[in-house]
Amino acid sequence: MTKIPHLIDINDFTSDQWCSIISLAHEIMSAPMVYAGACRGKIMGTLFYEPSTRTQMSFQTAMLRLGGGISGFDNPSNSSVAKGENLKDTTKIVSGYSDILVMRHPLEGSSKAAALTADCPVINAGDGGHMHPTQTLTDLLTLREEKGTLSGLTVGFCGDLKNGRTVHSLLKALSCFDGNKFILVSTKELKVPEYIKDYITAAGKEYVEYLTLEEALPHLDVLYMTRIQRERFGSPEEYDRQKNVYCLDAAKMKLAPADMIVLHPLPRVDEIAVEVDDDRRAAYFKQANYGMYVRMALILCMIDYGFESKPLLKGTVMNDVCCTNPKCITHTEKYLPHSFIKTGSVLVCDYCDERISL
Ligand code: CP
Repeated sequence: MTKIPHLIDINDFTSDQWCSIISLAHEIMSAPMVYAGACRGKIMGTLFYEPSTRTQMSFQTAMLRLGGGISGFDNPSNSSVAKGENLKDTTKIVSGYSDILVMRHPLEGSSKAAALTADCPVINAGDGGHMHPTQTLTDLLTLREEKGTLSGLTVGFCGDLKNGRTVHSLLKALSCFDGNKFILVSTKELKVPEYIKDYITAAGKEYVEYLTLEEALPHLDVLYMTRIQRERFGSPEEYDRQKNVYCLDAAKMKLAPADMIVLHPLPRVDEIAVEVDDDRRAAYFKQANYGMYVRMALILCMIDYGFESKPLLKGTVMNDVCCTNPKCITHTEKYLPHSFIKTGSVLVCDYCDERISL
């Protein structure tokens, strides 16, 4: 497979490359001992500026199962970030200690910003509400294992489709495979962002938007539930208006086809009733387990890359223009060049994909 220096956005890989990683993950699952020493002597740095259970621990266990070591923090307040160290310096230092760097951060575009100065490959383990490409690889492996295909699927997404980075990355990925259709179930406040809808349309795929799960369920091959992301709301009142709107329970599961599967990137709050766990269509715990194997495959595909820094910013530097997304990394890391891609009468932020009308 062609080596890629960083994984910032799922589209840094081609669909053929995703399929290679998924096939390798399948091989590792079949014969894990074959790969037990594949990363001996290598170190993975883990910079988790935001809480995580699955992503952090599946990356760590993936590296340990490959025979490598791990080093990093899971709480920036226990690091020199608490003394005011900027992202550039932390990345520069830790990438010098590591062969591969995995980073989760609450701000959008942070992984790309980190990759600008890193001396080893950077993997985006979630940047705010923007992207979560390794969850997408997990989801693709789950679909391949549980549905036997990545094509011709009608996939429903339900919940916080505005802030759900896993939703954004998976919609982009599934738009690249033939015959997929999407049913987007959310309140009007939490709809999929326009740039993702534009991506689906440009890929020649169809989507419809519904307000209720009941309308969507009978048509689905896959239901991808998501939690309402409390940490992304501006105020507790805004969150209170959105929470508890959607709950998949045993009664609603009766509306779904017998071979539909239910996925969820987890953690769940209350959007899937615990009773659904006993339904054989519930695949979300298996999905979390697949995540470790796909991350083993990803580490193997990226770590031996003869690392060479490549230009990452695709746009034009316009330091007099500010991104209008308040969660964009450019607002806190002031040294970053403001780079935008001009598309017609719109500027697209190179870090967070915010669209700014001219
Ligand atoms: N799916 C996922 O990213 O879970 P964590 O937040 O626990 O890593």
